[in-house]
Amino acid sequence: MSSKDQKVAVNTFAKEVHEGLTAFPKYLSSKFFYDEVGDGLFQQIMALPEYYLTDAEDAIFKTHKTAIIHSFDADHTGFDLVELGAGDGKKTKVLLHELLSQQVDCTYHPIDISENAIMGLVGTLKKELPALAVQGQVGEYFEVLDKLQGLSDRKKVILFLGSNIGNLLHARAAQFLQRLYAVMHPEDLVFIGFDQKKHPQKVLDAYNDPTGVTAAFNKNVLTRINKELGGNFDVDAFIHWEVYDPESGTAKSYLVSTKKQTVDIDQLALQVHFEPWESIHTEISQKYDDDTVKWLAEEAGFSVTTSFADSEAYYKNYLFKKEK
Ligand code: AVJ
Repeated sequence: MSSKDQKVAVNTFAKEVHEGLTAFPKYLSSKFFYDEVGDGLFQQIMALPEYYLTDAEDAIFKTHKTAIIHSFDADHTGFDLVELGAGDGKKTKVLLHELLSQQVDCTYHPIDISENAIMGLVGTLKKELPALAVQGQVGEYFEVLDKLQGLSDRKKVILFLGSNIGNLLHARAAQFLQRLYAVMHPEDLVFIGFDQKKHPQKVLDAYNDPTGVTAAFNKNVLTRINKELGGNFDVDAFIHWEVYDPESGTAKSYLVSTKKQTVDIDQLALQVHFEPWESIHTEISQKYDDDTVKWLAEEAGFSVTTSFADSEAYYKNYLFKKEK
């Protein structure tokens, strides 16, 4: 990030923290979990036995890799593979290996806002898959996509994996898909991971591990406020709380104050009061079914062409094409 971008980012953080902690009920956006510490905690979450999402998506790719690549390139014209929020690229490696072994004509464009993540990923891919054409892109998804569309007319397959879409309420997910639709050419495709509705206990357990990694991840937003905005949150005076509503399919994370307390945030010139057991809503992790995914796709002008599931149908990846 340039220092100008960094300032803008800091200002967004300050502004949104102020907004969320002066609202009733209080809230903070889950996008603020991810600083260096948060990235590390999320890596740990993905390795937890309870966090089935990562393994399920991985199993889908391992089981269906040939069919998945075929669905991307039925006409064998080759394509650019663009990944939104590539991170360390772990999710995608199985597909990248398969692209190479099928000798598909393909360039991989991982996009991430973290320059660090992209540099690391490009470095590892050079070593592990030297024959793969990679062009890492640092920036905001839609800006980079716009730029890529200006550079070539080649068919694009856009990956959005890990059920990252689940952090968005349906209205915002539809908006996000509409923006994708707007930058896509007629032949382009989107391949998205959607975590599925399942036994409510299974969902709860995934966001409530006994080792407390998820709790630390959730509380990291308070630690960030302490570090970056001069806050004095006592993070031990909050508990991580997860609820899952099987009707809406929405898992929600909260931080709950265990006592009456006041927190000072110097750089916001703000005092925040908490009543005993008052909450801060910090994240949603939406679970889906086929009908809901179809509805979301259609809200944005897409249709679902095919989908791939793991053996338990915990998780599905769907391929969307432009309908109109
Ligand atoms: C990265 C948004 C898919 O919601 O499952 C993991 C983040 N939060 N444990 C999710 C997360 C708590 C994760 N996503």
